[in-house]
Amino acid sequence: MKTKILVTGGTGYIGSHTVVELQQSGYDVVIIDNLSNSNREVLDGIEKITGIRPEFVEGDCTDIDTLRKLFTDHPGIKGIINFAASKAVGESVQKPLLYYRNNLMTLVNLLDLMPQFGVEGIVFSSSCTVYGEPDVNPIDESAPIKPATSPYGNTKQICEEIITDYIFAGAPIKSIILRYFNPVGAHPSAYIGELPNGVPNNLVPFLTQTAAGIREKLTVFGTDYDTPDGSCIRDFIDVVDLAKAHVVAMKRMLDRNDTDNIEIFNLGTGRGLSVLELIASFERATGVKVPYVIGERRAGDIEKIWAEPTKANTVLGWKAETDIDDTMRNAWRWQCKLPK
Ligand code: UD1
Repeated sequence: MKTKILVTGGTGYIGSHTVVELQQSGYDVVIIDNLSNSNREVLDGIEKITGIRPEFVEGDCTDIDTLRKLFTDHPGIKGIINFAASKAVGESVQKPLLYYRNNLMTLVNLLDLMPQFGVEGIVFSSSCTVYGEPDVNPIDESAPIKPATSPYGNTKQICEEIITDYIFAGAPIKSIILRYFNPVGAHPSAYIGELPNGVPNNLVPFLTQTAAGIREKLTVFGTDYDTPDGSCIRDFIDVVDLAKAHVVAMKRMLDRNDTDNIEIFNLGTGRGLSVLELIASFERATGVKVPYVIGERRAGDIEKIWAEPTKANTVLGWKAETDIDDTMRNAWRWQCKLPK
C-alpha cells in the first residue's frame, strides 16, 4: 500500500512541485489549501505531469475542526509537509496578526492532531531568513539565529521553536525542518510554476514579467553593497531540486528508526550569485533582454547569504543539481504560458 502524505499549501508554488515529486516517488497525496494564493487549475497541472490527480480539500488549516474532519475522512496519513503559510515580508510588516495567525495556528493545529491520528512526522518549511545577515558565508546549520527583521521571519523562528519544544516535551512525532534559501524557476514541463498575486516582490517573477513586457523595467535594489559587482548575493535554488529534498526528508523521517526526532537542514546550492549575475544568466539562457535600472537599496535586505549545504548533501544524500541557466529557461517558459 502507498504511504499517504498530507501536503498543506499543496497548490502553492513549492507545494505543487513537491506534490509532483511525491507522486512520482510512489506516495499518495492529500492536499489542503485555502486557495488564498493559488487556484484549482494547479491540480490540472499536477495531473498533466504525473497522470494522477491528488485528493484535494479546500480549507483553512487555522481551523482545527476542518483539519480534524480531514484526518477522519482520510485515515492513515503517515506524514505531513507543511507549506500552508503566508510569505510576503513587506505584507507581514503591515499585517502582523495575519502572519502570526496563519503561520503559527496552522502549525499548532497540525502538531496537536498528529498523535491522535497516528501521524508520525512533519516536514516544516523554514527559511534562511532565520540567520539574518550572516557573519560568515557560506552559512551552516550551527550558525546563530539572529533577531527577526519582520513578522514573517519571526513566524519562521517561532515555528522552529514550537516544533522543538513539542518534541522535547515527549510528543510521539518526528520532524525535519528545512531552511530554504531562494527558490526560483518552474517545472520543466511548464505545467506548474509560481503564480504571484499582483505586483511581485520577489526578483525572478518580477524579472520574467519585465521580460514579457508586463512590467516596464526591473529595478536592481542597490549596487553599492560590499560584493564584487555591488549587488546583493543570494543562493538561488531550483524549485524542482528543492521539491526533491522534501521526498528524501520524508522517507528518512518515516522509514528510519535510527535518526534524531528533530533534524534541521539548509537547502541551497552552496553557490552565491549576485542579482546582476542572475539577470545575465536569464539573458544568456533565453536570449531575451531584460530592461533594468539601478535603484536605491530596499529596506531590510541582507547583503549576502549563501548556504553551506554539506549536511543535506551527506546526511540526506540530496544535492541541488540544476544549472542556473536551465532554471531561468524554465522560469521563462512558465512565464510565456501565463496570461499577460
Ligand atoms: C525574501 C525573504 C525570504 C523569503 C523570500 C521568499 C528575508 C530577508 N528574505 O528573500 O525569507 O523566503 O523572500 O518570499 O526576509 N531584488 C531586486 N529587484 C526586485 C526584487 C528583488 O533587485 O524587483 C533583489 C533584492 O534586493 C534581493 C534579491 O533581489 O537582493 C532577492 O530578493 P527577493 O527575491 O525578494 O528575495 P529575498 O529578499 O532574498
